[in-house]
Amino acid sequence: MNGRVWTTEDLDAIASLEAECFPVEPWSRRMLADSFLSGNFYGTLLEEGGTVVAYGGMSVVLDEAEIQLVATAEMYRRCGRGGRILEDLIEEAKRRKVKRIFLEVRVSNAAAQILYLKYGFVGIYSRTRYYPDGEDALVMKKELD
Ligand SMILES: CC(C)(COP(=O)(O)OP(=O)(O)OC[C@H]1O[C@@H](n2cnc3c(N)ncnc32)[C@H](O)[C@@H]1OP(=O)(O)O)[C@@H](O)C(=O)NCCC(=O)NCCS
Repeated sequence: MNGRVWTTEDLDAIASLEAECFPVEPWSRRMLADSFLSGNFYGTLLEEGGTVVAYGGMSVVLDEAEIQLVATAEMYRRCGRGGRILEDLIEEAKRRKVKRIFLEVRVSNAAAQILYLKYGFVGIYSRTRYYPDGEDALVMKKELD
């Protein structure tokens, strides 16, 4: 398992994994590229034998970060990869002197919520009908020392 930051050459692979992991409203390659090139973005991934199997991304503005992407390919789940991606995002946020990290997660997405709770995120409020299909989002936050 090799971990590294994104390059532009990874965008096709990340976009196709994103489409597999998020059947509803995945980020398109264009959205991924726009964020990646914005200058505020940090993207990290894990690969197996040259294939991207997990990825994460966050934007950092001043002392706040927002985790925008975290996913692991289905057949590689429950082996620590999502946690490793999250740890890397948190470490990078610390390096950039971020004070707090936010993220949004579907209220039905128990797997992701448990993962985030494990890494010190707490639910702070919900956004009613936040997603296009009408589902609420739970906003979670982690304070960094
Ligand atoms: C959420 C997701 C990223 C987790 O990735 P992963 O590689 O399986 O995560 P890990 O193996 O590192 O899991 C770490 C911990 O999270 C929790 N967890 C992860 N998946 C879980 C599940 N399906 N049910 C319960 N707890 C789960 C567990 O506490 C787990 O530790 P454990 O395996 O020792 O019990 C993955 O399920 C995924 O890609 N889902 C689809 C995309 C998605 O919903 N992304 C998040 C959007 S906000």
